[in-house]
This record gives sequence, C-alpha cells and structure tokens, in this order.
Amino acid sequence: MVYQPKEDRYQTMSYHRSGRSGLKLPAVSLGLWHNFGDATLVENSRTLLRHAFDSGITHFDLANNYGPPPGSAEENFGRILRQDFASLRDELIISSKAGYTMWEGPYGDWGSRKYLIASLDQSLKRMGLDYVDIFYHHRPDPETPLEETMTALDHLVRQGKALYIALSNYPAQQAAEAIGILKQLGTPCLIHQPKYSMFERAPEKGLLDVLQQQGVGCIAFSPLAGGMLTDRYLQGIPEDSRAASGSRFLSSEQLTPEKMEKVRQLNELAQQRGQKLSQMALAWVLRGGRVTSVLIGASKTSQIDDAVAMLARREFSQSELDRIDAILA
Ligand SMILES: NC(=O)c1ccc[n+]([C@@H]2O[C@H](COP(=O)([O-])OP(=O)(O)OC[C@H]3O[C@@H](n4cnc5c(N)ncnc54)[C@H](OP(=O)(O)O)[C@@H]3O)[C@@H](O)[C@H]2O)c1
Repeated sequence: MVYQPKEDRYQTMSYHRSGRSGLKLPAVSLGLWHNFGDATLVENSRTLLRHAFDSGITHFDLANNYGPPPGSAEENFGRILRQDFASLRDELIISSKAGYTMWEGPYGDWGSRKYLIASLDQSLKRMGLDYVDIFYHHRPDPETPLEETMTALDHLVRQGKALYIALSNYPAQQAAEAIGILKQLGTPCLIHQPKYSMFERAPEKGLLDVLQQQGVGCIAFSPLAGGMLTDRYLQGIPEDSRAASGSRFLSSEQLTPEKMEKVRQLNELAQQRGQKLSQMALAWVLRGGRVTSVLIGASKTSQIDDAVAMLARREFSQSELDRIDAILA
C-alpha cells in the first residue's frame, strides 16, 4: 500500500536546536543499528520507519557497518526510502558514519582520508542518496593525525556529499581539539554522539561541558543501555529480546543480580512518577537541556510510542534526581 504519512505528525514531538547550529533535531531519534539488517524481515523495518516518521521522528541514524551483514542496514533503508519516502527527503535528517572495520586491507577502517571518502561514497550508493545530512567520524583513530581526518570531513561537505559533520565516541579532550580544527576549516562540528545513559555516565566527566562551551549538540546513543533500562528483563529474558539474540553488545551475563536490583528500584520510582522505566530513563538523559536528542533503537512500534509519550512527563524534582543518583551509586 502507498504510504501516506500522518498529517498530524509534527504535533507531539519537540525539536531541539543542535548546539549553536541552524539545525533542529527531534527530541527522540531512531537508530538503525539493530533490526534493519538482512536478518530482520524488511516489512518489520519498514513498519518501524513509517511509524517513527508518523510520530514526528525526522532523524534516522545509520553507519556503514550496520547490519548484519555490514552495509545491509543502509541497503534496506535505501530500498524503503525509495518506496515510501521518495517525496519526503527534505523532511528527513539521515546520518551515516565511518570509523569501524568495513572492508579488508589497510583502507577499510579508522580515520584516513582514503577510508572516509571511499566509505561515504559506498554509503551513498547503498542508500541511493546524493548526500547525507550528517556524516560522522565513528571513533577516534589513535594513528591518523586529527588534521587529516578533519580535513577529509570538511572536504566531504565542500563536495556536497554531507551537509554537516559530526563526531562519535571522542573523549572530551580529543573532541575539543577536533571541534577546534573543524571550526578553523570553516565546517563547524554539528553534534557529538556519545554513549550516555543512567548506566553510562562518562560524558558527565567533561564531554558535556566541552560541547556546551563550543556550541556543539549532543545525541546520546543507547540511552536505554540496549534495553536494560526498561521493564523488558524484569521477569527473565524474553525470547524475542536483544539479550536472547546472542548479541555481543547485550548478553545475559550483563544482566547481573546487582544490575537487575538497580533496574527494579528504578522501575519502582518510574511507576511512582506515573511512567514506564524506559520513559524515565530517556527523560533523565534529556534533563538539563544539554542533550539535543536521545537516539533509541526499537524492535516494535510500541517501543517508539513509549519513547514519544515520555515527552509528556520530562521534569524531575530534585529529590527524584537524588534518589536516582543513590540507586545508581
Ligand atoms: N556511535 C556509536 O558508536 C553507536 C553505538 C551503538 C549505537 N549507536 C546508535 O544508537 C542507536 C540506539 O542504540 P541501541 O539500540 O543500543 O539503543 P537503546 O535505546 O539503548 O536500546 C534499544 C533496545 O531497547 C529495547 N527497548 C526499546 N524501547 C523499549 C521499551 N519501551 N520497552 C522495552 N524495551 C525497549 C529494544 O530491545 P529488544 O530488541 O530487546 O526489543 C530496543 O532494540 C543505534 O541504532 C545506533 O544508531 C551508535
């Protein structure tokens, strides 16, 4: 059936400016790391994308290596784009990344000019796009000079293959250096994508300050710790869950009794607030206004609904924040 986006799709979502740029991103963005590769039924991926867009989620986040196999998420996304979103390209913010292993040999990984330029060309081909809205360096490269990596990113913007440039997984000091180089080159860094959740608070130790000072946005990935910060695992490990899928990023061993006790206490607090734990976890990441968007994953449309409904209950009292800190300590 021909996809007709909902007319009221922009009514509920809030859109936040990314740093001091001109670009606004939805408070909730959808990542295609899981559930969009060849192992997933393409109809499910398509339903998720339609549902997200109908909910005001205008930003879809990809990377060269998302799958499995690597590249298949971009290919499947490209196919769905052509079928459903061809006339909606100007309402979408599509990002991709390069920085992890993508092809064999010395030019398929890390941060050289050779790798980044070739990789974005490949991503554009897979998605059938002329340009991405945001192109990220996916992780810092300890061997390539930062100037080379940043100059390659600037070059891609000048070629018209990316509208904005961004960084991911850069620690505070390196992020500050990279942001400085990009500024000098005339291509300011739009946003940084760190891992940030109640269970992963490293960005609070300097990175969020750097981003705020430099006017760079922040989009937090895995804000639900891959599903741990939800009610998914309170009664065991469901068969259709990420932890049961053999994922090396969320294994049953990570669901330790100690961690699950914290989840249970957080879940109680969320219930007292009249929301689900997943919603409290997302609202917590957005608290204080330093995070532009939470970048969630979803295997079901109901999970997208949960995330969007979080926006109705975003505020925390000081005593709730103190209670969360005490549970997480
Ligand atoms: N830059 C990087 O290095 C990097 C690394 C990782 C991820 N990312 C980006 O971040 C995105 C999100 O990562 P993530 O998938 O780990 O995020 P996440 O939001 O922490 O976890 C998503 C998973 O949590 C479960 N879930 C979501 N909502 C739920 C709800 N309401 N109730 C119960 N369970 C719920 C689902 O798992 P089930 O499958 O069990 O249903 C879902 O797939 C990725 O797609 C990618 O775009 C970037």
